[in-house]
Amino acid sequence: MKKVRNLINITDLTVEEINQLIEVADDIVANHAEYENICAHKKLATLFFEPSTRTRLSFEAAMLELGGSVLGFSEAKSSSAAKGESVSDTVRTVGCYADIIAMRHPKEGAPIVAAQRTTVPIINGGDGGHFHPTQTLTDLLTIKRKKGRLDNMTIGLCGDLKFGRTVHSLIEAMLRYEGIKFVLISPQELQVPDYVKEKMDAAGAEWTEVETLEEAIPQLDILYMTRVQRERFFNEEDYVRLKDSYILNLEKLETAKEDLTIMHPLPRVNEISVEVDDDPRACYFFQALCGKHIRMALILFLLGIKRA
Ligand code: CP
Repeated sequence: MKKVRNLINITDLTVEEINQLIEVADDIVANHAEYENICAHKKLATLFFEPSTRTRLSFEAAMLELGGSVLGFSEAKSSSAAKGESVSDTVRTVGCYADIIAMRHPKEGAPIVAAQRTTVPIINGGDGGHFHPTQTLTDLLTIKRKKGRLDNMTIGLCGDLKFGRTVHSLIEAMLRYEGIKFVLISPQELQVPDYVKEKMDAAGAEWTEVETLEEAIPQLDILYMTRVQRERFFNEEDYVRLKDSYILNLEKLETAKEDLTIMHPLPRVNEISVEVDDDPRACYFFQALCGKHIRMALILFLLGIKRA
């Protein structure tokens, strides 16, 4: 089988490659016309076995803005998965129709299986509660654009840190930069899994766990809010009890730094009041825009296409 690069976990990319992607994403904004036709005759397939707004549509917008085409499905029931087809067979088939595949699947590890069954690059758009590397690239680009750096800062991660795959991927990515401190804000039941704590310890990272937003906020440079992941709970009762554990509002922000960057991978449910949206520190819709730019850069990277 032909050797191609895939993106399953953020650590599939070196820090140098991530920096390169960020540079290309910025160049795409600065020199948009140079990229308008760069993927002519290339096709991206988006295979989404789980719901998505940002990941799927930003991938599709990214490919269209690069002059390529898109095909795919947005729910398992409109594909032959509904008739019992395996992920392997679906991906092997779609590899005959498309040059690159972005997929989301509820099962952890599904993109690894997919990558073994096709000759085209596979991009993990989220696998269960495991990883979401393109969200992490989005987050890194947002932080770089807002802070001008990716090192030496205190990051608060708040909400469902157990099931939140964006949190696991972001921690793993930030562990590779100097001077990062993590403040993990969650109820006990939703703390980050032990394997993530082990990775932080192995990297010598400074981290603390707290249960209230109030005690964390004053020290933060970045506040990364997350939704409680209803779809990963085993019972509704636990979800209902925990879903409103944290609600960020303007009152809670009174003790925050003036240059705090408030992020959220979205979708949001209740965890950020809409009154915060107009605060200049709120960056979550800007973050969604960054998602399109970095996915444009990623498509070019995985297809081996460079601006002339
Ligand atoms: N951030 C994110 O993954 O959003 P979607 O679920 O809408 O793709």
